[in-house]
Amino acid sequence: MPPIPSNDPVLTDIQANILKGHGRNFAHHIFLRIKHGETDAARYWVASFAAGTITSARKQLDGTAAFKSGSTGDAGSIITLSLSSTGFDKLGLGAQKPVSTAFQNGMRSRAGLLGDNPHGMEKHFDGIDLMIMVTDDNSAVAARKAKDLIAQTHPFAILLLDQKGNVLKKTSGTGIEHFGYADGISQPLFLADDIRRQPSTVEWDDATDTDLLLVKEDHHDKKDHFGSFLVFRKLEQNVKGFKDAEGDNDGVPGGLPMVKDVDGDDNKELAGAMLVGRFENGTPVIKSSVAIVDNPPAPTNDFNYANDLSALKCPFHSHVRLMNPRKGDTIAGDVSAQRITRRGIPYDEVGRIPEDRINSITDDMLDKNQPTRGVGLLFMCYQNSIETQFEILQHLWANQGQIKGHAIGAQDSIIGQGTNPPKTLPQQWGQSAQSAPFSFSGFVTMRGGEYLYTPSISLLSGAGLTE
Ligand code: HEM
Repeated sequence: MPPIPSNDPVLTDIQANILKGHGRNFAHHIFLRIKHGETDAARYWVASFAAGTITSARKQLDGTAAFKSGSTGDAGSIITLSLSSTGFDKLGLGAQKPVSTAFQNGMRSRAGLLGDNPHGMEKHFDGIDLMIMVTDDNSAVAARKAKDLIAQTHPFAILLLDQKGNVLKKTSGTGIEHFGYADGISQPLFLADDIRRQPSTVEWDDATDTDLLLVKEDHHDKKDHFGSFLVFRKLEQNVKGFKDAEGDNDGVPGGLPMVKDVDGDDNKELAGAMLVGRFENGTPVIKSSVAIVDNPPAPTNDFNYANDLSALKCPFHSHVRLMNPRKGDTIAGDVSAQRITRRGIPYDEVGRIPEDRINSITDDMLDKNQPTRGVGLLFMCYQNSIETQFEILQHLWANQGQIKGHAIGAQDSIIGQGTNPPKTLPQQWGQSAQSAPFSFSGFVTMRGGEYLYTPSISLLSGAGLTE
């Protein structure tokens, strides 16, 4: 399907946060299990919640436009509802369940494939039927709305977990994840306005077919209705372990080789940047062997790997290159059909960053407080197919370093799971001589999650009517 114009009526029926990230500071992810014998009550509540409270893509875009034009100082909350496979069954929506073995059987059943350790999972992720997401720029408002929804659902649902997340932004405005790297830069774009607004598309265009995101639903009215599969994974980050191994902490020798920049000078940021694919400030390592500092920061997404087929500037095993090999310039051929739409948000259960500083984080704050646990990423991604998108990325590309049957030799250093063969880096950026083999892995641990589906609003608002 071509890009969606801003006046397309379909936007009123697609839930918010699918076509475009919600962008709010705070998010609650409320996981619920429908109680035995309360499925009717659940159905009626879901139907009226969908009709009255769930935020549509249309409302999300209007809120953003009003905020940007200055007509309101508050872009408002975003509220969505997603279902697991058992959620569909309990709501009497089994006939409308989207077809997918992975979704039908749930994420736990795929632990072997994904390399997840079932014993490391938090118990609250067992038996999820529904997930309500409530976001707002104001922490108190998000918390109040979450509390209200938990109370409303209490008669028919057991609260499994209220998982909070919040953005992390440097004083420069750059959004980061807990290891301190700029995140959320590269995203597929589906809305005509967003596609038009890209600053530059010489080497890479983020315009993406909505067929990679949306799932067409079969409704009686035969009109267009769309939902999307949502993968949710709570990924804990061992920040101290990662920073020690990177050699970022004074007095700790680190485990990475020193890589020389294009001029032959030692650059102690470069090895880490080559494992991620970008420097901490977002500069793509394919473009430069030193971080480029712009004011305001403007990390580009306009690059591909066509001039680095031997991967001497950006290794094949770097997270960013493995997760999006870009435009078929790998030996593997065209891999554009695997692209996922990331919607993750960091979490912090140990108060690493005080709530009033999440938008003004300094390097000093990150350096001084490096938790080994209790912080991480609530990884979320939307896609048309869990099996051919997220699962290919995690199972084959990240864990095995294998793209379309072509083994590129090493696992993803950030999220790879399972056997981790040692890897190398060029001794100098762009040159073929390689470092001694080293290991760098195990700093991200999967704590639980589920495969969900975020249906069209009309599918949910019809729930109360279903037999
Ligand atoms: C704690 C876990 C993770 C961390 C710290 C992390 C970190 C990052 C960072 C720093 C970037 C570069 C920013 C950008 O280009 O937007 C990135 C990009 C990306 N990540 Fe992750 N990530 C994590 C988990 C995952 C997982 C589980 C997947 C999928 C299985 C994934 C897929 C991607 C993709 C597709 C990109 C964009 C690549 C591109 O288009 O160039 N990430 N990640």
